Amino acid sequence: MIPQLETAVFGQQPGFNIGGPPIKDTIGDTNVPMIHNLSVHDTAKQKLDSHSRVKWETDQENAFFVANLGEVYRQHIRWNSLLPRIEPHFAIKSNPDPMVAKLLASLGVGFDCASKAEIQQVLDMGVEPSRIIYANPCKQASYIRYVAQQNVAKMTFDNAEELHKIKMIYPNAELVLRILTDDSKSDCQLGLKFGAPLETVDHLLRTAKELSLNVIGVSFHVGSGCHDENAFADAVLRARTVFDQAEALGFHFTLLDVGGGFPGADIKDGITFEKVAAVLGPAVDELFSPDIRVIAEPGRYYVASAFTLCTHIIGRRTVMKGSEDPSYMYYVNDGMYGAFNCILFDHQVVVPHVLSKNGRYVYGQKLNETEYECSIWGPTCDSIDCLNKSTRLPLLEEGDWLYYENMGAYTICAASQFNGFQKSKVIYTNTSC
Ligand SMILES: Cc1ncc(COP(=O)(O)O)c(C=O)c1O
Repeated sequence: MIPQLETAVFGQQPGFNIGGPPIKDTIGDTNVPMIHNLSVHDTAKQKLDSHSRVKWETDQENAFFVANLGEVYRQHIRWNSLLPRIEPHFAIKSNPDPMVAKLLASLGVGFDCASKAEIQQVLDMGVEPSRIIYANPCKQASYIRYVAQQNVAKMTFDNAEELHKIKMIYPNAELVLRILTDDSKSDCQLGLKFGAPLETVDHLLRTAKELSLNVIGVSFHVGSGCHDENAFADAVLRARTVFDQAEALGFHFTLLDVGGGFPGADIKDGITFEKVAAVLGPAVDELFSPDIRVIAEPGRYYVASAFTLCTHIIGRRTVMKGSEDPSYMYYVNDGMYGAFNCILFDHQVVVPHVLSKNGRYVYGQKLNETEYECSIWGPTCDSIDCLNKSTRLPLLEEGDWLYYENMGAYTICAASQFNGFQKSKVIYTNTSC
């Protein structure tokens, strides 16, 4: 359970007792979200149960997220225990959910923002400008003017044109040179777009010197969804060489920003946060003296595992295959144009589980039933809207529910309302384990 959650962050909020009245997602007549104190599966169950108990409403079968704020909190504790020297700045782009942002702000986490709106959201929560890094190497001029007014001084760059732009608008900005690293082992290779190759660093630093700009350090991003912890060590080594180059040119660097790329959910026999921390922590300590401030920009790490998406089966098509067992096409009410855009944009592989079948609630249970070949499709009229091309599930009917875990990163933030389908709403809970 998050100690500060009920009082400091969100005020006193009622919990919810199993077997009580229909679940409510907001407090009283307000729009203030209610934070339940049930497990994720009991929160989802209460939500489904409430459908039969309340009077029929048009939206009652809509897909919904259960967000477990306790999980976000535990990720923070884990971070502090394994990487105590590195100050996390949550990459709010990964999930700008207001409750998650408030929680992290209350825990003293900083923020990595990429646009005026993100910076505004963070400042509006009362976060001091010094806890924000504007980590977008190519910024709209008017946004630089905005951050100059707001005293958000830290910002990244990776090209000389950006330096000239910043000189004109915010000459006292605290600049962080984003360098290119090896992102070949990552799902999203951000180096295609950003990061100064090491051979350009000398020119960039000399340009900054000529312009009398205040470059304070180095940042990098090993790529989002990184599968190789050694990429972090290699990047830290590159950053060290840039620190040395800068020193030789008369700069005094004080900041190292190790970016994002930390895993959101541990992969069995694959990457885990523990493995990254075991490589990154010692690499930083070995190459950077304690007076260097070290920050990071984790996004996925904080939110991926905290969000579970529950979808309603709105239709089924049986596909006959001669004398073989038929296969089935299931249609659910969130899709590729909604939260599942992560399949396209974030290279995620999403795994369906049965939440309820024929009114029976089976979260987490292995059903002892024959499984059939099937595909799962979103609700829009586009055939790209396919969530699982081929999987196996017990025979399901319209009205049953599926759930997908690890749906907190790069999902809701990029969802559209194409075809008039609403974005799935979020119900909050706060579990202690
Ligand atoms: C500059 C920057 N920092 C941090 C992140 C967050 O990365 P991740 O979610 O992999 O931690 C991103 C993601 O695109 C990014 O572009």
